[in-house]
Amino acid sequence: MDKISYGRQYIDDEDIEQVVKALKSESITQGEYVPLFEKALSEYTGASYAVCVSSGTAALHIIYSALGLEKNQEIITTPNTFAATSNACLYLGGNPRFADINMDDFLIDENNIEKQVNENTKIIAPVHYAGLPCSMQEIKNIADKHNLYVVEDACHSIGSFYKGHKTGSLKYSNAVIFSFHPVKHITTAEGGAILLNDEALYKKCIALRSHGIVRDNFINTPISPTYHEMQMLGYNYRMTDLQAALGLSQLKKLDMFIKRRQEIASLYNDTFKDINIIQQKRYDDRINSQHLFPVLFENKDIRDKVYYYLKENNIFTQIHYMPVTAHPYYEKLGYSSMDTPKAYEFYERELSLPMYYSLSDIELEYVIDNIKKALKS
Ligand SMILES: Cc1ncc(COP(=O)(O)O)c(C=O)c1O
Repeated sequence: MDKISYGRQYIDDEDIEQVVKALKSESITQGEYVPLFEKALSEYTGASYAVCVSSGTAALHIIYSALGLEKNQEIITTPNTFAATSNACLYLGGNPRFADINMDDFLIDENNIEKQVNENTKIIAPVHYAGLPCSMQEIKNIADKHNLYVVEDACHSIGSFYKGHKTGSLKYSNAVIFSFHPVKHITTAEGGAILLNDEALYKKCIALRSHGIVRDNFINTPISPTYHEMQMLGYNYRMTDLQAALGLSQLKKLDMFIKRRQEIASLYNDTFKDINIIQQKRYDDRINSQHLFPVLFENKDIRDKVYYYLKENNIFTQIHYMPVTAHPYYEKLGYSSMDTPKAYEFYERELSLPMYYSLSDIELEYVIDNIKKALKS
């Protein structure tokens, strides 16, 4: 059996053709494809605006900045995420706080969020881990009560639904961010996006993406025909047109990608319900778009045994995530993984099984068969 990994991109001839077309066009950056991809993303999600950027991390950095996160202000997020969710807060001199997770849905426990709120809190940043939306109604209630912003880190969950609302529709938040890294549902190689409904916030994100330079609504009086001015300290976080051309082509296949991912999840569900493997909770009012398929084993020893057994058989699983608080950099800042013990226990027992569009039925059967064998070994 060829190597099977936990996730991978799917690129077809149409994707390649579209990138070549963009490469042959007049502008390979700041051209026509980025606005087209932004329009397609806002149509897909129902958001009024989309801002494409160079990565999901850049999207987080820009939106926290645009919402005015300043030195010593705080965000509240989950420790069960990729470090970028909280790193972007550190970039701005802010302090991330971590609310522990639920052991059944693997998501931030909304009951722990309110305990972390204080006078410095500015943003709640829930992460729809593995593709399952968080309890957004409860999170919005907390945010409204304490006058906080909500930024959904939806890097795992493009195409998911919560109470009938598609992720990105902004029903429960001020902004939603996506990543288009190759392991995600759709890819632009590297890339990300911010979805917004607020026009002023949108304009700020557009400026921050490109050095903080604006070409209208000037502070000073224009002194030349090509006048532009820098109004804030921004970055070069632009997406190229080659990436946007790929994104546009990939977006057309997104629903097909999600359908296959959900089929794979159903097959895992059916197999594991009779085995001692814990799966992520399913909710009647949410649709999981299945970026990952995380499972929990009884303990770390069994998890490790399965990991190594699969690896010997050319199946490369992953662990998502080591809690952010357990990274040495965060420990040096005074964080401890023991602050969020459930996330730590989760980390010790979790394995992300292969989950991607092109995983064939034969490969899936091979994976399931080897998990069963590993457990018996
Ligand atoms: C939950 C989460 N947030 C943020 C990011 C950062 O995205 P990117 O890799 O595009 O910078 C990722 C990517 O792995 C992620 O999984």
